[in-house]
Amino acid sequence: MSSSSRGYKAWLGYGGGSGQSVTLAAGWEPYVNKIVSGAACSEENEVCRTAVEELAAGLESLTGRKPEKINEDGAAAREGNGGFLAVGVAGSMPLIDAVLSRDEAAKLSEETYVIRSAESGGRSYIAIAAKTGRGLLYGVFAFLRLLQSGNEFVAGLDVTEAPAFPLRMINHWDNLDGSIERGYAGQSIFYRENELLAGTGRIVEYARMMASIGINGIAINNVNVHRQETLLITERYLGDVAKVADVFRKYGIKLYLSINFAAPIELGGLSTADPLDEGVRAWWRERARDVFDRIPDFGGFLVKADSENRPGPFTYGRDHADGANLLADALLPHGGVVLWRCFVYDCHQDWRDRATDRAKAAYDHFRPLDGNFRDNVILQIKNGPMDFQVREPVSPLYGAMPRTNQLMEFQITQEYTGQQRHVCYLIPQWKEVLGFDTKLNGEGTRVADLAAGRVHDHRYSGVTAVTNVGDDDNWTGHTLAQANLYGYGRLMWNPDLSSEAIADEWIRQTFGSDPDVSSVIIDWLTSSWRIYENYTSPLGVGWMVTPHYHYGPDVDGYEYSKWGTYHFADWKGIGVDRTARTGTGYTSQYSQENAKLYESLDSCPDELLLFFHHVPYTHVLKSGKTVIQHIYDTHFEGAEEAEAAREAWLTLEGKIDEERFRSVADRAAEQAEHAKLWRDVVNTYFYRKSGIPDERGRTIY
Ligand code: GCU
Repeated sequence: MSSSSRGYKAWLGYGGGSGQSVTLAAGWEPYVNKIVSGAACSEENEVCRTAVEELAAGLESLTGRKPEKINEDGAAAREGNGGFLAVGVAGSMPLIDAVLSRDEAAKLSEETYVIRSAESGGRSYIAIAAKTGRGLLYGVFAFLRLLQSGNEFVAGLDVTEAPAFPLRMINHWDNLDGSIERGYAGQSIFYRENELLAGTGRIVEYARMMASIGINGIAINNVNVHRQETLLITERYLGDVAKVADVFRKYGIKLYLSINFAAPIELGGLSTADPLDEGVRAWWRERARDVFDRIPDFGGFLVKADSENRPGPFTYGRDHADGANLLADALLPHGGVVLWRCFVYDCHQDWRDRATDRAKAAYDHFRPLDGNFRDNVILQIKNGPMDFQVREPVSPLYGAMPRTNQLMEFQITQEYTGQQRHVCYLIPQWKEVLGFDTKLNGEGTRVADLAAGRVHDHRYSGVTAVTNVGDDDNWTGHTLAQANLYGYGRLMWNPDLSSEAIADEWIRQTFGSDPDVSSVIIDWLTSSWRIYENYTSPLGVGWMVTPHYHYGPDVDGYEYSKWGTYHFADWKGIGVDRTARTGTGYTSQYSQENAKLYESLDSCPDELLLFFHHVPYTHVLKSGKTVIQHIYDTHFEGAEEAEAAREAWLTLEGKIDEERFRSVADRAAEQAEHAKLWRDVVNTYFYRKSGIPDERGRTIY
């Protein structure tokens, strides 16, 4: 790993493609040579100190000059020429109080920041202010983004921003041996050979990256907690886990751990893990105390129970509320929470049984338990009812439990979306999810409203996502996959940002401001989800991938399996009938309006048609095409588009560094080639099933 490489610095390279200092847009220059911060910022408040350090380091990289740092208010700040930056929490010094009064600050959230221009003694300055160190840190990163935005400084600068969603988390599926479940960018940055890599520079760099995009909680181990990881909550590892938490704390991030529900048996020598057993309850209370003794601001436990063969409360005839409350009670005295996953379904299904529908499982298991969970339990619900496919409807469980805290779970790691060998920018997909109107409280109950905690009176709300990083030099394998990680943080901070705006920000900070570079990458990123969908599984039906690996086409790979993942293609038609009238009844899990929308063939959106309906190949879509012709057309188009994206990338040779140019070019070649394989396998499969030729007579095998 060469820590000086451009890929390694990701969007914190400050200096774009060149690695040199940048020319700031007009008007900023006078402000960026001097930082005045109050004494409070350097002593008591650790995060506040980080904020000042990050600002100084960022400015130095951007301008090539070390800014002068002044730790006091008053005359010193106003010596010499030019303006300055004032950084501090409300009440820490008059330069800050002049732009953010204590009264105004009292009304702000802990994470809000304010960036305002002001004057003092005839000298103008820009203040970055907040109520807390965390707010300040977010303000500093926002200011550094502003400097790189290419926009000029305008007098009267006045920005106040708060994140939309309170919890903005990341989940790692990392294992202690260094492997990463569904990881496509090397080994874990946290573990190697059953030891933590606590204290390594890489973890510090990672915490910086996460803080810069507003992440405030990270679960550092896989939800599938194996034998060794079960020990993370014991003396064997807690010292090292605490060291990682120390790093996170400086960046305003809480650490969470995934736990094994059967730990009382595996570690404690108990004969049961029954959530209602007094011995089990006492055991968990002790473990919670051990963890909080070491990590006073520990976030809590993340739990995958009774899912894909993991242990859980079902073994003891208990339900998920019993299971979650057991841990919630243990954590409550210390302020911890339980993140309880709803990815619970029968993974031993019989493919011959058409009545059982995996899509219904989460709702069926959890919805009846609304009101039974402690208020420090948060249910973690995958964005779709199946499993992070390229296209799924929004999970009907999200928003459907008014008395229960919920987080929506996304997948940044590209398990089903090209495994970071293909470009698939997922921000447009997540924007559709966040913008979906559940209509659960009448019109205008969007997922984003629910995640913001605006709909129900919940103690906790927000989002989480399975991350895509590993120890590859550039963190994400494919350089352009960094945009998904960056974009997740930015979108969950502000869901109103457009996919293009997020891509543009990322490109400027990552590659600089060359308009040719920018236009090629923006075009590619923003079309890539549709392109990927085009050459893979059509019209929302999903799966069709190589079992277990989930890379590459295998149309019947999951068709006769136990996983509940079928397309039911025969010689006449394809799709899963999930209607209430003739199918599995899944549609009735939605609000009445949405149930109606999906139930009817006439109103069901084309892109989800095969998720909800089984139709003949000759069924005519709203686009005017038949299903079979749509399959052929999109697959030919998708493969052509992947090739065109590759060619467009090649025009950037010499415009960005060779290292990143080459690695993306290599992956683009693989993607284009692989897209052709997808095209030919899928088209050939459906031609052979249906016997219907392509209207345009193109080659199908
Ligand atoms: C998917 C994925 C698994 C993962 C699971 C989960 O099924 O393939 O690797 O463990 O999701 O979210 O728990």
